Amino acid sequence: TAIHREAYAAPAFWIDSVDLTFDLDPTKTRVLNKMRLRRNPDVAAQPLRLDGEELNLARVLVNGGGTSFKMDGEVLVLENLPESHDAFDLEIFTTCNPEKNTQLMGLYVSQGTFFTQCEAEGFRRITYFLDRPDVMASYTVTLRADKTKYPVLLSNGNLVEQGDLEDGRHFAKWVDPHKKPCYLFALVAGQLVAREQRITSRSGTEHLLQVFVRPGDLDKTEHAMNSLMASVAWDEARFGLPLDLERFMIVATSDFNMGAMENKGLNIFNTKFVLANPATATDTDFGNIESVVGHEYFHNWTGNRITCRDWFQLSLKEGLTVFRDQEFSQDMAGIDSARAVKRIEDVRVLRTVQFAEDAGPMAHPVRPDSYVEINNFYTVTIYEKGSEVVRMMQTLVATPTDSLGRAGFAKGMKLYFERHDGQAVTCDDFAQAIADANPGTALAEHLGQFKRWYSQAGTPRLEARGLYNAAERSYTLSLSQTCPATPGQSSKEPFVIPVTLGLLSRDGHVLPLQLAGSEDSTLQRTLVLTENVAHFTFVNLDSEPVPSLLRGFSAPVLLDDGLSADALMCLLAHDSDAFNRWEAGQRLMLQSAVQALGSDADLSNVQALSPALIEALRQVLRHPELDAAFKELTLTLPSENYIADQLSLVDPQRVHTLREAMRLQLATALQADWAWALDHYRTPGAYQSDATSSGRRALRGLAMTMLCLAAVQQGDDVLPGKVYQLFKDASNMTERFNALSALVVSGHTLAQDALGTFHKLFKDEALVIDKWFALQGSAPDRAGDVLPRVRQLMQHPDFNLRNPNRARSLIFSYCSANPAAFHRADAAGYVFWSEQVLALDAINPQVAARLARAMDRWSRLTEPYRSAAKVAIERVAAKADLSNDVREVVSRALNN
Ligand code: ARG
Ligand code: ZN
Repeated sequence: TAIHREAYAAPAFWIDSVDLTFDLDPTKTRVLNKMRLRRNPDVAAQPLRLDGEELNLARVLVNGGGTSFKMDGEVLVLENLPESHDAFDLEIFTTCNPEKNTQLMGLYVSQGTFFTQCEAEGFRRITYFLDRPDVMASYTVTLRADKTKYPVLLSNGNLVEQGDLEDGRHFAKWVDPHKKPCYLFALVAGQLVAREQRITSRSGTEHLLQVFVRPGDLDKTEHAMNSLMASVAWDEARFGLPLDLERFMIVATSDFNMGAMENKGLNIFNTKFVLANPATATDTDFGNIESVVGHEYFHNWTGNRITCRDWFQLSLKEGLTVFRDQEFSQDMAGIDSARAVKRIEDVRVLRTVQFAEDAGPMAHPVRPDSYVEINNFYTVTIYEKGSEVVRMMQTLVATPTDSLGRAGFAKGMKLYFERHDGQAVTCDDFAQAIADANPGTALAEHLGQFKRWYSQAGTPRLEARGLYNAAERSYTLSLSQTCPATPGQSSKEPFVIPVTLGLLSRDGHVLPLQLAGSEDSTLQRTLVLTENVAHFTFVNLDSEPVPSLLRGFSAPVLLDDGLSADALMCLLAHDSDAFNRWEAGQRLMLQSAVQALGSDADLSNVQALSPALIEALRQVLRHPELDAAFKELTLTLPSENYIADQLSLVDPQRVHTLREAMRLQLATALQADWAWALDHYRTPGAYQSDATSSGRRALRGLAMTMLCLAAVQQGDDVLPGKVYQLFKDASNMTERFNALSALVVSGHTLAQDALGTFHKLFKDEALVIDKWFALQGSAPDRAGDVLPRVRQLMQHPDFNLRNPNRARSLIFSYCSANPAAFHRADAAGYVFWSEQVLALDAINPQVAARLARAMDRWSRLTEPYRSAAKVAIERVAAKADLSNDVREVVSRALNN
């Protein structure tokens, strides 16, 4: 049964304070919960209904005495509470079984250590409570446990007392000085060690930062600690938001459903986003750690100090915090070219994953109207599209003196905290504060309409057509927008779309932009489209310009600018906007792909890339000034999934065959250039994870793959032998993994040997073994060999379905990141998918529901895939006792 946003009602009771005492035991943990409550005077008197899940209830006392209660399903109902509005005490004693908790929600045990995950609705698995984010309470927590097995006892806030108890047990008492919703509660107990760092913030306050890991992992915590220190400094410098706690802790666990969790003062992280050293982690891992550490830290203000009124408002904290972590990573990258690379990477995720979500059965607005299971709504739409919505607000508060809108946006944030600090609020409250702080700007002027980005799902299509008038020396740009229907929303109202643009001459010079009727001219400006159609005329142009539209990806839309290949070539060679320069190359490759797919040529031999495009790409690769990271992005073909998204009917095998052919064409045509790049972009000396060095390694990685592909095609073993040597001699994981991956991707016979060596070298490094599984699950399919390999790997002693990282590394890589291996004509991939969804659902519904989404796009497949996919989804849906999580995903898929 679905829950609706419109049905929101304030809670009938407030909980002022909570005093929790835990007697931690893996199979039977006892939880004493003493709350102080009072009736909400604004709500009609009604019984108290407390959420609970898989709890054993032993005792309920009101003001110290017995009371009557009943159960409504799993809800604990108290009908005979004191009628007055005075506060009263409620004491509840329950037990739970953390070791049996394979869902990893609530209190669970991972490798002998206790952890919690409460967002969104896990606290109810710890004790009976008003498990909703608008109930904010003060927490005191006492942890008691065996001292040898659980020497470290952590919870939110400040440690106020600790000591020994009888029978080898000990205790620790924590008080959180800030009120919080229960989804931010956390505890950790186990054998852990910490890297510690004392810092003094700008205001002169001292803080203790700690990163807790298992003994033996301490040598992998330096980067996380550096990222945390940088995050603290950045939030204070950019937004004036200081650390508001004496102590800030990060704890890593290898069993975690998501990336990390922002519990107040006690962030809990997936090890994947904490542990790194040059030998075991890639540049991508280093980058992800910086961004996730930043993300969770920034939640301390955007999420914790101001939280969500209800879960429909999830993007209030997630979209905003993703925006903040993206800005942080860009600022850390420093130089403009590295900022652009980060932006391109972010947009690539948005367009490949979020646009697909917005076009499929799970499409939902950034602020959804209903859900069955909230865990299914921790999506790229809430996070990444939500971040784009915040980014557009920043763009729309720009003024002539603050052209990026940063100052205006910071002002808006200030007002947001002045108004709402300590409250649980809505997306409307946020947008209102940003607009109110910036009167007279486009955002303030169009706020009501702008908020359609929150309420309407689907990716808008922006059409742009230019008309040059030689006699008038003017250029008229016509912009129009439409948005396709999405589930439950058949027609859409126009959005407010900021379109940042520049004009280039045919030979690549920047042209000044002067709107008709205006005196001033600039080199770049942002047009704001609010109507379905609008026309903008620019004057004083001597020849027909090439428009560079939607610079920096100024709005999350699909742009159809009708540009010719010549115009795109001009942008690829000259655009000063790095994003659009990259985009021009992608568009040219995409056009080549779509054209070839539409013909009936033999795709395995087609030369889809024109000689002119190959030459233009060579110019980029050999360019004396462009960064290596930019080159790598530009010379990487659009993914199979992204190519498929451009088609109304998808044959995954044809897409795969074509992309492989295009890649081989690029590999052989530029063979000498790839060899040059491999040699030219070495990074001698000690490993550095900075943007420039990572970019060089990334380009060398691409070069290795291209060279191996060409070599295998030509029957040459010398080059693969050289790459194998690079694999063996590598002094860091990035280089080693790139070399390994080049051998695997090209299918050279040395790949098997290298995979064996790699496993032997890293058998004790769980995160590296995840990479080993993932590489094999996503390896190019050769005569259907991937699925049997995946099935065999599931029998490997290192495989464990219960560990989400491991399950994701093998199963998700195969089902979501390897379309040609997955979409088999014999339907065996789909059979495997349904088996794994069902097996996982019995263990961990959240992870199972994520895997279920691998079939989101089934209805666009050609036969025989389409029918076979439907049968597989129906097979899952037919299971009687499915979790809500999986049930919601498969029923939406079938209704599509
Ligand atoms: N708030 C966390 C973050 O984005 C995500 C936690 C989601 N957890 C869940 N079980 N759905 O940082
Ligand atoms: Zn978050």
